[in-house]
Amino acid sequence: MLGSGFIGRFYTDALHGGRSKDRVISVYSRREEQARQFAEDYKVPHYTVSLEEAIAHPAVTVVCIALPNHLHEEAVMLCCKHKKAVICTKPLGRTAAEALVMLKSVEEAGIFHGYLEDLVYTPKFLKAHNSVRAGALGRILWAKSRETHPGPHSDWFWDPAQSGGGCMLDLGCHCVEIARNFIGKDVKPLEVMCWADTQVKPIDAEDHAIGLVKYANGAIGQFEVSWTFRGGLDLRDEVMGTEGTLWLNSFLRTGFEMFTTGKGAEYVAEKAESNTGWQFPVGDELNELGYNHMFADMFRALEEGLQPAETFYDGYVVNAILDAAYRSAKTKLWEPVVFQDWRGSNEETQNSSLVDYDEDHYLVKEELTHFGVKKWIIKHKQTGLISEISE
Ligand SMILES: NC(=O)c1ccc[n+]([C@@H]2O[C@H](COP(=O)([O-])OP(=O)(O)OC[C@H]3O[C@@H](n4cnc5c(N)ncnc54)[C@H](O)[C@@H]3O)[C@@H](O)[C@H]2O)c1
Repeated sequence: MLGSGFIGRFYTDALHGGRSKDRVISVYSRREEQARQFAEDYKVPHYTVSLEEAIAHPAVTVVCIALPNHLHEEAVMLCCKHKKAVICTKPLGRTAAEALVMLKSVEEAGIFHGYLEDLVYTPKFLKAHNSVRAGALGRILWAKSRETHPGPHSDWFWDPAQSGGGCMLDLGCHCVEIARNFIGKDVKPLEVMCWADTQVKPIDAEDHAIGLVKYANGAIGQFEVSWTFRGGLDLRDEVMGTEGTLWLNSFLRTGFEMFTTGKGAEYVAEKAESNTGWQFPVGDELNELGYNHMFADMFRALEEGLQPAETFYDGYVVNAILDAAYRSAKTKLWEPVVFQDWRGSNEETQNSSLVDYDEDHYLVKEELTHFGVKKWIIKHKQTGLISEISE
């Protein structure tokens, strides 16, 4: 485990959870006391302040990168050098260029690589995604994902030199990959329109952003991200298709509500802003946030010689989309998503879902009125004339 901070601990809680056979056997941290504390807390037999020593440890089979964004590349290069399987937290790179270097390097080294995008492994997401893939929503038209909270928990996030950006990179990477999964990973993201601003915090990065990602099949992805949201951690997705609609609420208002005057309730849930009054706890946070299913997929793929659902290639695509979003926020124009390496389909289609009413007409809408009359709004195929027929 590289990193002993916030996500390193969440990951280790998940890895060691239940009756898991997986064990962290070496931990790297920048400061020795933190490495030792982590090793003590999780009964990890080896700790070090040397990145390379942790990676090269002979008993280590998989390296998990849980370090600040500017350190991902260095850690990946060391995994390549020592031919260790590597799984890396999000975002893969600070830019697509950085992510591409990591992608090419792991492929050249021939090592297993996984991208730890936990929010496409939540139980709700997995069920929703299966329904979407099975066609329950028809053709996907719009996939929106929102992640907002009152701001991250460590200094380096707020410094774009280390983090690579503000909330758009930090949270937008989740939202972009959620929407991309619903729309179809094979479908090419073409261009991005984005608004981003620094509304509240004294930082040189955006603390609030909204963006639209246009896909080659006509679908639109939307992300809404903020480090200025008050009230906890808001994680929501909405998907609209020609045959259905799907709404997911993964954190706030999930059906678990509790009132307390504050006696005895310390931790409620990640980024909850208060522990008195009405609370929205999260039942099993590790599972609800996807960590368990994510590691299960990673290790199953590794053992079976397959690719996990999320690889460094996906991390690269996400970075390429977000690079375009940053450009668009500056130019205020639709900006193309630039790929040095695109492996999906190059087809640009706007699949039609025209429904015939009869030989000469398309059906626009069928309506049952409140006064009991049924009617059909139709369009003539040749003339384009719109008319209606009542029962
Ligand atoms: N849901 C998620 O997938 C999720 C959630 C939070 C963070 N993350 C990602 O995990 C990574 C780490 O974030 P975090 O929240 O654990 O951060 P953190 O600040 O809590 O922990 C970072 C760890 O790296 C070490 N570190 C910090 N600066 C360092 C430096 N300059 N040199 C060497 N070590 C340093 C710290 O000591 C600590 O062990 C980031 O890439 C972040 O985007 C992912």
